[in-house]
Formats: sequence, structure tokens, C-alpha cells
Amino acid sequence: MSFKKKILITGGAGFIGSHLVRLFVNKYPEYQIVNLDALTYAGNLANLKDIENKSNYRFVKMDIVDANAISKLFEEEQFTDIIHLAAESHVDRSITNPTEFVMTNVIGTVNLLNAAKFIWRENMKAHRFYHVSTDEVYGSLGETGMFTETTAYDPHSPYSASKASSDHFVRAYYDTFGLQTVISNCSNNYGSYQFPEKLLPLFINNIKTYKPLPVYGKGENIRDWLWVEDHARAIDVIFHQAASGSTYNIGGHNEWTNIDLIKLLCKVMDKKLGRGKGESEKLITYVTDRAGHDLRYAIDSSKLQKDLGWTPSLQFEEGLEKTVDWYLENTEWLANVTSGDYQKYYEGQYAKR
Ligand code: NAD
Ligand code: TYD
Repeated sequence: MSFKKKILITGGAGFIGSHLVRLFVNKYPEYQIVNLDALTYAGNLANLKDIENKSNYRFVKMDIVDANAISKLFEEEQFTDIIHLAAESHVDRSITNPTEFVMTNVIGTVNLLNAAKFIWRENMKAHRFYHVSTDEVYGSLGETGMFTETTAYDPHSPYSASKASSDHFVRAYYDTFGLQTVISNCSNNYGSYQFPEKLLPLFINNIKTYKPLPVYGKGENIRDWLWVEDHARAIDVIFHQAASGSTYNIGGHNEWTNIDLIKLLCKVMDKKLGRGKGESEKLITYVTDRAGHDLRYAIDSSKLQKDLGWTPSLQFEEGLEKTVDWYLENTEWLANVTSGDYQKYYEGQYAKR
């Protein structure tokens, strides 16, 4: 069968990538989806069990830092489009090991840009390079205001600095070489298949196992939370409809202080686990703050709503319940990802706080 498009999705074995791969494979049987992932600690093919045998899906294990392997693959495969999500994505790990973030997020992205520029050189306009980025590139807000697409970049963590740098390279390849790029910057995602180093799955797992809930600082930092499947839907709309060279912000209009979010989570968990009122909240433990901890992120996604008609589909309370249910039901998935190296990571990250 010949496919209408052959789309490379990088980082498809990770949290957001696996939701995007699933959406595209199921919704577009006329596209061939090639998922390229190095399967780092965050990549897990178990995230894609339900679609792994579909005839329009293929997996390639490869590191985007390996420029030669990437160029060779691109020449062999002649992808028509790319949606790039592969990245080191956890702020705390970027504080421990910044160089790894430069390698994957900056060098890896430039390797993909070079390979795409080369294979598409005869007809740049026919192909799209979509770069998935974060609201963290804009830095930290005070009590008011929101990030728009024209907010100046002001990253503070090695993670956000590496993502900001990769965004700049993507724009430079549009301006300099005419590569048909699109960038989206999204707020904090939550949902199924998220590695339990990030706030929600980590705390769900800790509540379940009666471990302390390590709240950084006073818990007053604010994040805007979006259901991961709504992010995947936004990427779908932007991939198909956005003008080349454009940027879109994606967010949930759903700001929470960490402590309020954690208290709500504790309530939901008490109900689901049949615990007494207030039992899970007793696990809250205030620990040393994260270095350079951004106070507040808030995204203005009105451009996406106005231009392309996207809106979040799910109310947060409903999404949170669904998410808790998923982690409580998928005990084997959770047990697998929290065995082995995870224990070492956990000790290193939290023992001294
Ligand atoms: P994740 O850490 O769950 O997944 C990242 C994936 O990339 C993993 O499967 C990993 O194996 C793969 N990967 C890492 N290094 C690689 C390399 N060198 N070569 C090939 N593959 C490699 O991350 P996520 O939360 O799904 O984030 C995906 C993208 O979305 C990232 O670019 C991130 O910056 C961005 N983003 C994430 C959020 C969020 O809340 N999680 C919000 C906005 C934007
Ligand atoms: P995280 O999920 O790491 O996402 P990000 O740093 O990219 O926003 O963290 C979300 C918020 O929760 C952030 O303000 C840091 C805080 N946090 C804790 O208080 N304790 C923790 O153990 C973790 C992982 C995060």
C-alpha cells in the first residue's frame, strides 16, 4: 500500500509522544507513522502496546544525537514530514546533568533539521518540520499576566534553556534555509503513561504506597495543567492547518498552586482508595526548594482557539479522576517503570532534601 504521507514522530515512546502516535496511527490510516526513539529511561514501548501491530506503524530505535545514523535513515526513508518530540524533559534531571540536555535537545534537534533540509532540498515547500516545545522557554511570571506567542524568551533552568535554544535553531532554519517549520509551546501536561518523576504520577504513586509527598519550597508555585490527549489534538490541528514559520501556544486556562493541586489529589485518592478524610494529606512534607524554581507559568492560547478552533475538551477535575483511575488500574505498568534504576534516581533526588 502506498501512503499519502510518511511522518517521522520522534520521542514516540515517551509520555506525550505515545499519545500522539496513537492518535495519528488510529485517525490517519492513510499515513505511515514511523516512531523514532532511543528508549531512554523515559521511553517505554509498553506505552504503545495497543497499536504496535497496526500496518501503518513502525518503530525505529535510534539516538537523535547520532548525526550519521540520522542522515542515513532520512536518506533511506524519505520522510515527508517530521513531528519532533524527543527530548530530555525533566527539570530536576537538567539541574543534575545539564550537558545531556544540550546533547539531546539542542544537538539532536539540529541533527534532525540538517537531515530534513538535505532530503527536502529540491522542494522545501512540500514538507513540514513540526517542533514540540514548552511554555518554560518564556521564563517565570509574577502574579498577573500570561505568556503569548510574542513574549520574549527568558529561560532559567538548563531544561528550558536547551528547549529555548532548539526553538531558536528551528526558527533560524525557517529564516535561513526556507525549511517549513512550525513550533508549539505547551503548558504542563497530565494523564496516562507519564513517567513517575513528574509531579502528578510521582505523587499518585507515593500516596498509594504511603510515602512522603515532597513539596518543593512552600508549594506556592503555579502551573497551568492540560490533559495530554488535548495536547495531542492540538498538535494534530496545528500540524495540518498552521502556516509555516508560525508559533502557537497551547494551554488549559487551568492554573493551580502546587499545594492546592496536591490537596485536591489527596482528596481524590482518599475517595478512590477508601481512606479516611485527610489521611493522604498527612503525607505532605515540605522539602528544600528546587534551584531556580520558576514561580508561575500561564499560557494565553487564544491564537490557537481563534485561528484553528481548538479548545481543551476536558474539565480538570474530571481529567484528574481519569488519571488517578488509570494509575490505580495499570499496576503492572507502574511496577515496571518504578523498578530498577528508578529507585536509584529516587534516592539521589529526594534523600538529601
Ligand atoms: P518524555 O520524557 O516522557 O519522553 C521523551 C522521549 O524522548 C522518551 O521516549 C525518550 O526515550 C526519548 N528520547 C530522549 N532522548 C532521546 C534521544 N537522544 N534520541 C531519541 N529519543 C530520545 O517527555 P514528554 O513529557 O513526553 O515530552 C515530549 C516533548 O514535549 C518534549 O520535547 C518536551 O520538551 C515537550 N513538552 C512536554 C511537556 C510536559 O508537560 N511533559 C509540556 C510541554 C512540552
Ligand atoms: P514537574 O512535574 O517537574 O514539572 P515542571 O517543573 O516542568 O513544571 O513539577 C511541577 C511542579 O511541581 C513544579 O513547580 C515543581 C513541583 N514539584 C514538587 O513540589 N515536588 C516534586 O517532587 C516534583 C517532581 C515537582
